[in-house]
Amino acid sequence: MTDPIVARSRAELDAARASLAGTVALVPTMGALHEGHHSLLRKAKRNADHTVVSIFVNPLQFAPTEDLDRYPRSFDDDLRMCADEDVAIVFAPTNDVMYPSLPAVRVCAGAMGERFEGASRPGHFDGVLTVVAKLFALTRPHKAVFGRKDAQQLALVRRMVADLDLGVEVLSVPLVRDRDGLALSSRNKYLSAEEREAALILPTTLSTTAQALADGASPAQALTIARALIASTDGVVLDYVALVDPDTFDVIADVPGGDDVDRKAILAVAARVGTTRLIDNVDVTLRAATSAPTPREV
Ligand code: PAF
Repeated sequence: MTDPIVARSRAELDAARASLAGTVALVPTMGALHEGHHSLLRKAKRNADHTVVSIFVNPLQFAPTEDLDRYPRSFDDDLRMCADEDVAIVFAPTNDVMYPSLPAVRVCAGAMGERFEGASRPGHFDGVLTVVAKLFALTRPHKAVFGRKDAQQLALVRRMVADLDLGVEVLSVPLVRDRDGLALSSRNKYLSAEEREAALILPTTLSTTAQALADGASPAQALTIARALIASTDGVVLDYVALVDPDTFDVIADVPGGDDVDRKAILAVAARVGTTRLIDNVDVTLRAATSAPTPREV
């Protein structure tokens, strides 16, 4: 266990970063670290000589109507988790350090950033990619670790790295669930006991729908089951449920035909539970020809 250097300014970050020899893995976060983040830290530790964690609640990725001001903050607990995982540097800039002026030039997430999460949260992914690009420039990592809970974000970061030749290896870790099955999220803190109970329909819907696909239902039939399950749950309002390509987030409407190979897909859902918006997903493999698809991770 080693206490990380806490860098608040660019000068502090530069000095701390210059002291690190060998490879560096960046774990970009907005703080309020939970077990999902813990698995990101462990992945970074296994894959690089040093881990750098950024803790920054990025205003650019929140719409004015969203929860920027009440987003959970728990810096001391976050530091303890970072120390437990021997994080070398925690970069925790203020808004002024990160954005000395509002960036006029931003990363555009393009069409992939306008569907699903991007459709419900216009501009969100431009804000995410802009801050991730800045964090890459400031911390100069060899690798960066992202969670598969934010599957569309992960796909877009990979695409940005490829399209802009950023030279950072993007690693990912599986989504982590609580004992009751709810996907871990910093926003789960907003849920009342009843809302949390209602929110369990999300993992239930994903496992039931993945099973329907495994049993031979078409994507359309399986998604009809998913919509009905969410609609039957009081207090939960569906935003979207979709079967998508993990790299492009294009909708997958059909199982692969006779000559096609098995196809990996993501079954993704977003819903509002009370005032809290939650997302969840599972990986599925769509089996070619007439053999049924089998869920890979539920
Ligand atoms: O996933 C998150 O916590 C954020 O979107 C990220 C990647 C730290 C950018 O602000």
